[in-house]
Amino acid sequence: MSYSRRGFLTAVGATGGAGALFATMGALGLAPTAEAAARTAFVPPQPSDFTLTGRGAKKVVVLGAGVAGLATAYELGKAGYDCTVLEALDRVGGRNWTIRGGDRLTELDGSTQVARFSDGVYLNAGPARLAQWMVTMDYARELGVALEVFTNANAQAYIFHEAAGMTAPVRWRTAKADVYGYVAELLSTATDAGALDARLTAQDKERLIAFLRGFGSIGNRAQGFAYTGGERRGYHVDPGAGEQPGVELEDVPTLSEVFASGVGQRFSFEFGYDQAMLMFQPVGGMDAIPRAFADAIGGHRIRLRSKVTRITDLRDGVEVEYQDKNGRGQRIRADFCVATMPPHILARTPHNLGPDVQAALATPTVNSAGKIGLEYRRRWWETDENIYGGITNTDLDLASMWYPSYGYGGRRGLVVGYYNFGAQADAYAALSHRDRERRAVEQGMKIHGPKYRDELAASVSIAWKLQPHIEGAWVGWPSRTGAYQLLNRPAGHVHFAGDWLSYMIAWQSGALESARKTVTDLHQRVLSS
Ligand code: PHE
Repeated sequence: MSYSRRGFLTAVGATGGAGALFATMGALGLAPTAEAAARTAFVPPQPSDFTLTGRGAKKVVVLGAGVAGLATAYELGKAGYDCTVLEALDRVGGRNWTIRGGDRLTELDGSTQVARFSDGVYLNAGPARLAQWMVTMDYARELGVALEVFTNANAQAYIFHEAAGMTAPVRWRTAKADVYGYVAELLSTATDAGALDARLTAQDKERLIAFLRGFGSIGNRAQGFAYTGGERRGYHVDPGAGEQPGVELEDVPTLSEVFASGVGQRFSFEFGYDQAMLMFQPVGGMDAIPRAFADAIGGHRIRLRSKVTRITDLRDGVEVEYQDKNGRGQRIRADFCVATMPPHILARTPHNLGPDVQAALATPTVNSAGKIGLEYRRRWWETDENIYGGITNTDLDLASMWYPSYGYGGRRGLVVGYYNFGAQADAYAALSHRDRERRAVEQGMKIHGPKYRDELAASVSIAWKLQPHIEGAWVGWPSRTGAYQLLNRPAGHVHFAGDWLSYMIAWQSGALESARKTVTDLHQRVLSS
């Protein structure tokens, strides 16, 4: 009997749900750790699912070849579903877009940039970092996409708060040494003076102080637990051979200066579940992920430059009208549709899914984000400043500046001159590319000096709100009830998927998890109809 273990589990999962599935897996000795279970709960559709049911794989039209659409077609394709993907752009990936030399970037008003980057230099215009717990890592493994570390936090990068009166950037290591040092000094002093006696036993106090002495690198009780700087801040002259012990950075700021600078407010970023090191990136550019998906799906199933013009739910299926690459109107019939376009674009697409769906699609707010990629003739951040990857954070309108986590020690390289959101992104979006570059360089010179202008070789800037057929960086929901829940269910034969239907908006993992959910819903529907 051709009843595989996997097929059996799928059947258990489809009829009994995830709980039954895991109980069965446990009985078979397959249950993974709880942590891994959450991710492996997804069982892809497979041909054998149909063998005993007398049902067959259906025809599905997928709208959008972004990460959600590609994952949908890929997973359904495993079971033999006949998928066709319609994509308005002339490439797959959606917001997952890696820009290399020769690529063109056109904005809504028709203005076009051509990237003049040299070989091996690229800008991940959209997603650029993966957390280890994200399902994106599993797809990279499955699809054979090679990964490397993406440095999200680097002690050697800078913090610069102009509004706080800083005249020069401070290294993250120095900022941490000073903030941790003074916090430790204050807390040790207060603890030792009995200020926390209502909360702490004598032993708690001793242990807390022992922790703080190491955490802040502070003096002992006799020294008043004083923070007086030290090697953690960094060196003016690095330690060397023979008689060169190094010269530590001079001028330790006062406690009040340190808190006035606001640098400590930056530290929580790297504590985030989604942002903590280690993080990863595909070798050679983030678009390795959509390219691998497209290869696995088969190019003949993906119609590029095909813009959806109408979605019509029918009694027994769905019809999608689109304009093909020659500008001709076409229509495609299918049993089901999975719409993965951004909700605000879907809301503008004629359909017969009813006023509630229409209102739901129009509910999320659209957010802006922008980046500029600056290629330099030499890797001065490495040679002159010893920065190998990581991010500088500022209160300038450039927000953050990223150094490349690839190509170390090479000749040229690309710095992300700004990666900003909201009003800062809108301010840059309103400018021509030349003016964006000028402004980014002028701001960045406050951190890196004249070489930031003089060594510049080429640049490309993206304003996600101005990208045709995308028109936004990501969306936000006023709540996860109502509209969000409605669109997480099918409307007739139309299902939806995308990061916008997940709790991981603005992450590929959100798109992937949403695609998995929708694939599961659709497949169960087919198996039980
Ligand atoms: N995933 C995007 C990024 O890493 C957007 C994002 C930023 C999401 C910060 C959550 C937190 O930049």
